[in-house]
This record gives sequence, C-alpha cells and structure tokens, in this order.
Amino acid sequence: MRFARFLGSARSAYAALLIGAFAACAAGGASAADGTIRQWQFAKAADGFELALKEIARPAPQANQVAIRVHAVALNRRDLMMRAGRYGIGGTQEGGVPISDGAGEIVAVGPGVTRFKVGDRVAGIFFERWIDGAPSAEVLATARGGNAGGMLSEIVVADPARLVAIPSHLSYEEAATLPCAGVTAWVGLFKRGKIEPGQFVLLEGTGGVSVFGLQFAKAAGAKPIITSSSDAKLARARELGAFGTVNYRANPDWQNEVRKLTGGAGVDQVLEVGGQDTLPKALQALAYGGHIAVIGGLSGFASDVPVGALMGLAAQVTGIYVGSRADFEAMNAFISEHKIKPVVDRVFELKDAPAAFAAMDEGEFFGKIVIRL
Ligand SMILES: NC(=O)c1ccc[n+]([C@@H]2O[C@H](COP(=O)([O-])OP(=O)(O)OC[C@H]3O[C@@H](n4cnc5c(N)ncnc54)[C@H](OP(=O)(O)O)[C@@H]3O)[C@@H](O)[C@H]2O)c1
Repeated sequence: MRFARFLGSARSAYAALLIGAFAACAAGGASAADGTIRQWQFAKAADGFELALKEIARPAPQANQVAIRVHAVALNRRDLMMRAGRYGIGGTQEGGVPISDGAGEIVAVGPGVTRFKVGDRVAGIFFERWIDGAPSAEVLATARGGNAGGMLSEIVVADPARLVAIPSHLSYEEAATLPCAGVTAWVGLFKRGKIEPGQFVLLEGTGGVSVFGLQFAKAAGAKPIITSSSDAKLARARELGAFGTVNYRANPDWQNEVRKLTGGAGVDQVLEVGGQDTLPKALQALAYGGHIAVIGGLSGFASDVPVGALMGLAAQVTGIYVGSRADFEAMNAFISEHKIKPVVDRVFELKDAPAAFAAMDEGEFFGKIVIRL
C-alpha cells in the first residue's frame, strides 16, 4: 500500500517535472531547452543589410530588468529602410536586432522590478526613453529596431519603464501592431489634431498608419475618407466604416473627389503619409482651420512648405514623430474603451521573416504584416 502510494507520488512528481520542462520550452521557444534562443540580426550585405537568423544564449534579466517572451512583431516601412541602411537616428548596426514593434509575455523579472510581474502581457515603446511630456534630443536619440535593440528575438530583456501593458481584448499579433503605426495615428488625430465628432478625416492609402487612422476616426464619431490604388482595398475600408473612398490611381486628381465627399467644405484632419506627391493635393482638399499631421514620405518626403495656402486656410501643420509612453497608454485606453481590433493582413512564422519583409516591400497588404515568434 505504502509502496503504491510512493509510486503514485513519484509519478506525479515526474509528471510535474515534465510539465515544468514543457512550460519552460513553450515560454522560451523551440530551442530554449538547451539554453539558447533564436534571434534575427542585421548583417552587412553588398546592398545595405540582410537578415541573418542566429542562435544565441538565452538572455537573463539583471536588476531592474524583465525578460519578455516575444510572441509577435509587426513591420513598419521604417524596418525596410533600416534593412537598406537608409534610416537616421544612429543608423543600422551590424548585429542589431530588427523591428521596433512587438508584444509578448513577461517570463522572468530581475530584483527590484515592481512595474510588472511574470505573466503580464506587454509591448515595447518605440522611443525607449520618451516616457511623457515634450520630445527632446535626448528622448528621440534612441529607438527600438534601430540603434536600440529590436523585437525580432524570442526573448528580449528590457527596462520595464520602457514597456506598456497591452489591452486585454487583443491577441499578441494584434497588440504587436500598436507601438509605431498605432501611436503615430493616435497622436496625429487626438493629441495634435484634437479631432471632434462629425469632422472629416483624410487617410492616404491603406497601410498601417492610415488604417489605424480610419478605425480611430470612426470610433471618435468622425467621418473617415480614405484613398487607395485598389478598389478591393477600398471595399475593405468601407467594411471598417469608411465614410468615403477614392481610388487615387483611377483619379489622379483625387483631392477633388475627396472635397466633393465633404459637400465642398473640405477635410478637417489629414494624416499625411504620402509625402511629396500627396501633400499639395491634401492641402487642396483641406477645410478652413484644418489640421495636417505630417507623418511620412511614401512618395519621397515633401520639402517645400506651401506657406501661402496654409495662411490662406488658417490651417495648422504639425510634424509627428510617433509618441511617448504616455501617448501609447492613452491610445490603449481608447482602444480598450472602443474594443478596436487592429487589422492584421498576414502573419508569417519566425523562420520566414525575410518573406515578411518582401511582402511589406511589395505593398499588397491592407493594415499590418505580422511575424509570429
Ligand atoms: N513620423 C512618424 O512618426 C511615422 C510613423 C510611422 C510611419 N511613418 C511613415 O509614414 C508612412 C506610412 O507608413 P506606414 O507604416 O503606414 O506605411 P505602409 O503600411 O507601408 O503603407 C503602404 C501603403 O501606402 C499607400 N501608398 C503608397 N504610396 C502612396 C502614395 N503615393 N499615395 C497614397 N498612398 C500611398 C499604399 O496603399 P494602397 O495599396 O491602398 O494604395 C501602400 O499599400 C511611411 O513613409 C512611414 O515611413 C512615419
């Protein structure tokens, strides 16, 4: 009887050991059992950089650090520029870890950590040192996926002050899309644009920033008008609640169509991502007192300031550079309140990261491209 009880408890102890080993493996990724993790790194190539998959020692958190098991990362246009070695702020580093945006679960905490605990679901902030308040040279000097380590790694060790909790209704794939594109759209519309219900909002193209802009504007009770080169993508935009859609390829003077959709008054807010080809047209579609959030340069960065048109419309133009941790947290509160689900177009596996970069390059997507780790 006693022997049988011993056998029973030995069996449960063995089972517990197995479950522990399995959990550690699941938390640490496929290769974690031998104390290593998989991580993509930038490696010098003839034409900029290429992606190299490395197996490295599993990093452990030191005092005031946490280890995150990254479950998903999302691509931004900047990640392509980083790979090409054509991006500012410190440039691309040999051995640097790509991709600014990622979400995961905290699997270990070092001594002194109080902000998060094991099991918490988090995302990294884009500018690691921009916690709150106005931008400065110091806080804009380092950004994830560039001169600060990126998220394309099974485990990332980080200062918990540089992380935010992610909304509970989002999957890791959805939450991974928030740090750059989401925060940028939110800052452009809410913090700088001070969007109001009923306003007309212009979104250019159906990439990451613009689709977030569409969802945020709709949730704020505004009327989003979105352009695209593809009628199929415009149909998807209408399903998401677009008030109006215009094919900018079929209508080279799309700004006139946009103005017509506003009844002639013009748009009150623009998330200007197109750059030199779109800024002059966006201005022609702008209402008196309207606001243009200058964000991107998909067609090349615009370099002339159209002073006359801006003064004539008593318009506002603000330059946006993502945002702070406080902006990220304010956006998360809005996303949670309105149960917004970021649009993930496609999910790639970790081993297929180069294919995810190629898909971003091709532009045949709507919203965001994600890699699952
Ligand atoms: N300042 C900042 O803080 C900040 C933050 C994030 C991004 N950005 C910049 O903002 C821009 C957009 O970023 P993203 O991540 O949203 O890009 P993205 O996801 O790569 O957007 C790609 C989409 O943009 C549309 N597009 C391309 N060229 C266009 C043009 N000439 N006119 C209108 N739409 C065009 C296309 O949409 P269709 O296929 O529908 O035609 C394309 O599929 C990039 O230049 C990026 O570097 C800046």
